[in-house]
Amino acid sequence: MEVHETIASIRQSLLEQHQAGRSVGFVPTMGYLHDGHLSLMARSRAECDVTVVSIFVNPLQFAPNEDLSTYPRDLDRDLASCRTIGVDAVFAPDVNEMYPEQMLTSVSVAELGSTMEGAARPAHFTGVATVVTKLFNIVGPCRAYFGEKDYQQLAIVRKMARDLDQPVTVVGCPIVREPDGLAMSSRNVYLDEDERAAAPVLHRALQAGAATILAGERSAPAVRHLMAGIVEAEPLAQLDYAEVVDAATLRPVDPLAGPVRLLVAARFGRTRLLDNLGVEVPARG
Ligand code: PAF
Repeated sequence: MEVHETIASIRQSLLEQHQAGRSVGFVPTMGYLHDGHLSLMARSRAECDVTVVSIFVNPLQFAPNEDLSTYPRDLDRDLASCRTIGVDAVFAPDVNEMYPEQMLTSVSVAELGSTMEGAARPAHFTGVATVVTKLFNIVGPCRAYFGEKDYQQLAIVRKMARDLDQPVTVVGCPIVREPDGLAMSSRNVYLDEDERAAAPVLHRALQAGAATILAGERSAPAVRHLMAGIVEAEPLAQLDYAEVVDAATLRPVDPLAGPVRLLVAARFGRTRLLDNLGVEVPARG
C-alpha cells in the first residue's frame, strides 16, 4: 500500500492510474477508522479498480471551542486497517501541506448548510465543503464514498459536486451500528461508561419516529415531538434537535410524504452525537 504525504506525490500516482484507464474510488476520512469507514473502503474496493483513502483532521471544520486538539488520532492503527481492507493508497498530509498559506477561498452550500448541524456549528459545513473540494481536486475523477451517518454532510457534498461540475460520483453508504444500535463514530471513544450505555437512545428515538409514520402519522411536529420526548427522557442526554425533513432537499415537509429523513443530535457529557434514519412514507391507499 502506498502512503503519500504530499499533494504532488498522490497526484502523480493517481495520474498514472487514470492514464492506465483504471477507475478510482476515494474515501475521505479524518482517521481513527472504525467499521463504518471500513465498509466505505470495502464498497470502493468492490466497485473500483483502485481505492484511495485520505486521512486528514481538517482544522477548517472545527470552531475554536470544539475538539480539534483532542480529536482522536492513531495513524499507525489506521494504516494497518487500510492494509487489511486492501486499500491501494493512503493520502495523509499534514496541515501545512493542505494549508500552506492563509486560505482566502472557501466553498459553501447555501440553505442546505444552515439548518440542523449548520445552525449548531455555523462554520462547519463551509470547512467541510472547502476541504472536500480540495481533496476532489487532488484525487481527480472518482467515485467518492461518504457514510449516511453524516447525512446532512452527504447531501451538501452531493449538491456541491453537482453545482460545481466536480468530476465525482458521490456514493452514500448505510450507517454501520454497534449491536445495541449506536451509530459508529470516531467520537464514541469520548463517552464514559454511563454515557455509552445511554447513547443508543438516539437510535430508539428514530425507530419510534419511523414506527409512528409507518403506523399512519403524517404530522411532522408530532413525529418531532415523539422523538424529542424519548431523547429528553434520558437523563444523560441533552437534546440539540429532532427533525423530520425531505430526504433529498432537507427542507421541512408537512404533512409527511415521499422519502423523508429523521435526524437527531444530542450531547452526552462533552460528546455531541448524531444519528438519522430514512423512511418511505406509505402513500394513502
Ligand atoms: O466526514 C468526515 O470525516 C469529514 O467531514 C470529511 C468528509 C473527511 C472532511 O474532512
